[in-house]
Amino acid sequence: MGEDLFWAIRGGGAASFGVVLAYKVKLVPVPEKVTVFRVERYLTENATDITFKWQSVAPTTDDELFMRMLVQPVTRNKKKTVRITVIALYLGDSDSLVRLLNKDFPELGIAKENCNEASWIDSVLWWANYDLGTQPKILLDRDLNDANFLKRKSDYVQTPIPKKGLESLWKKMVELGKVGLVFNSYGGQMNRVKSDATPFPHRAGNLFKIQYSVSWKQPGDEAVKNFTTQTKLLHEFMTPFVSKNPRSAYLNYRDIDVGSTNTWSYEDGKVYGQSYFNGNYERLVHVKTAVDPKNFFRNEQSIPPRSTHI
Ligand SMILES: *[C@@H]1O[C@H](CO)[C@@H](O)[C@H](O)[C@H]1NC(C)=O
Ligand SMILES: *[C@@H]1O[C@H](CO)[C@@H](O)[C@H](O)[C@H]1NC(C)=O
Repeated sequence: MGEDLFWAIRGGGAASFGVVLAYKVKLVPVPEKVTVFRVERYLTENATDITFKWQSVAPTTDDELFMRMLVQPVTRNKKKTVRITVIALYLGDSDSLVRLLNKDFPELGIAKENCNEASWIDSVLWWANYDLGTQPKILLDRDLNDANFLKRKSDYVQTPIPKKGLESLWKKMVELGKVGLVFNSYGGQMNRVKSDATPFPHRAGNLFKIQYSVSWKQPGDEAVKNFTTQTKLLHEFMTPFVSKNPRSAYLNYRDIDVGSTNTWSYEDGKVYGQSYFNGNYERLVHVKTAVDPKNFFRNEQSIPPRSTHI
């Protein structure tokens, strides 16, 4: 298909370029045994200090360790507060994980009792919130009737948020009431891929990605308005702490607030294109112009060709 198109569809949103009917994946070896843990801490349990430290440890610790952090407004003892949850996967056994964390992240206070060793496939189920030991065939259950409404947004953090900033964030989250945050650490291999090697540009220089997350069950416009407004307010609040020029965003959380188009002009596309792809937007437009000049493959956030005739 040519180097340019092959480059574009690996992260550039195949919905702009065509439909992928088949692909081959190259498997990598996984260890016999991995270790997972999930620990919760409230504000009264040093959650602020732990979050502050997490920002510099999670992206720089051993490559074999991934630590996600959830930040959620919760009610505890009838008081609204914030809880953090650190969820981790380590490609190794629990003894070496505890040793590593005692060195890199003693504030978290992880002991062997917090850790569960599992096979790789069992850890996949665990990440999907099934109990360890659940049979993998449950992954075939699509649960199509479980309808939920949701709103997601994203941001990239490039310098650690100071403790004072975290304290103001907790206050804002309690005030808004429902929106949670997921911090996904970058670093490691993410840093070693150049930002133009594939369309996905968020490489070295990013500490972590924030996912803003709210899900709800009640149908109706009022709930949509309520929860999308809360999410936007929190995103606005985070402006001083996150990437700028462009304010980067993560494509897979499809967020129409990042920008959208119904004319597929280069300028419209540039708004969301630069947030999602930074400097790679130009090359994506170049590929699009070559392979789909009439803009057959399009959506509200697709890559526009240089000039559009629809
Ligand atoms: C909070 O941090 C202090 C000082 O580092 C420590 O003594 C205390 O045990 C920590 N509390 C919890 C609940 O981890
Ligand atoms: C709006 O959000 C708050 C929680 O932040 C919730 O208590 C309330 O029920 C919501 N209202 C609607 C109409 O969904």
